This record gives sequence, C-alpha cells and structure tokens, in this order.
Amino acid sequence: MPNLNINGRNMSVDAAGDTPLLWVIREQLQMTGTKFGCGAGLCGACTVHVNGEAVRSCQTALSEVSGKKITTIEGLSAKGDHPLQKAWIVEQVPQCGYCQSGQIMQAASLLSKNSNPTKEEVVAHMDGNLCRCMTYSRIQKAVMRAASEMRTAAASSDRRNT
Ligand code: FES
Ligand code: FES
Repeated sequence: MPNLNINGRNMSVDAAGDTPLLWVIREQLQMTGTKFGCGAGLCGACTVHVNGEAVRSCQTALSEVSGKKITTIEGLSAKGDHPLQKAWIVEQVPQCGYCQSGQIMQAASLLSKNSNPTKEEVVAHMDGNLCRCMTYSRIQKAVMRAASEMRTAAASSDRRNT
C-alpha cells in the first residue's frame, strides 16, 4: 500500500500505483475541496501541491508522489486563513466556486516563490487555470492583494525581530 504524506499526516491508501492522485484524495480520503473538472490536465480544478509545486492531481499517478509532501486546499492553512483565502473573500472572487480551490492552490505556488509578482507574472502563472464564470479579473486582484498583505506581514515580522 503506498504511503502518502498529505497535509502533514502520513496515510497509507489502498490503491494501485497508477491511480490518479485526484481519485485518492476525493474518493478514498474524502477530501472534496480538490475538484474534478476535465480529468485531462486542461482546466486546473484539481491543482494541489507536491513538494511545494502546483501539479494537476488528475494527471499525477499515486506512484509518483510516494514519500513526497502533498498539500491540498484543506491543508493550505490550519484555519482557512491563508492570505490568499482572505483576499479571495475581500475581493469576492468566486461565482459558482467550482474552479476556485484550484485557482488558490495555483496562486499559492507563485507567492511562495515570488512575493512581489507583477500583474503580468500573475496572469502568466494563472493562465492554465480555467474559470467558466470568468472571474479572472477578480482572481488577479486577489492575488495582488494577498502578495501585498504577505509583504506587509513579513516586513513587520522583520521589524519585530531586529
Ligand atoms: S481536472 Fe485536472 S486539469 Fe482538469
Ligand atoms: S467560479 Fe465558476 S468556474 Fe470559476
């Protein structure tokens, strides 16, 4: 049985190595925040992090992630208060909401490496995550807001530590 580390917990799952990670997350582990959209790597609704990189879980076999650190939307922050999640609320991003956990996970992988992205960098990074409700401009605003909040928080923590 493959061993997985999901959201900081070690779990063994009863599934063949070629099972898509998305199926395991949703069907076996009952973590339904990660969505099934196209099932073909084309929409980004199934985005999770593997060792901090955004990946499409519908296209990722269980055997590829054994021993790696997987994070789903449920594990992005302990209380659902990641700066991106807060910015999503302030900017009232979701419409139907279906694509949004994938959008947030995709955005989080950008901000973990680049805390001061340009709008063009945000657009380029988010390019493959589709939204049928066309919430793109609100997504971009929320990512820029979250980046700004994260920089402010980092600066005040630096001040406290000096
Ligand atoms: S469901 Fe995985 S990319 Fe669409
Ligand atoms: S909010 Fe409906 S698909 Fe994006």
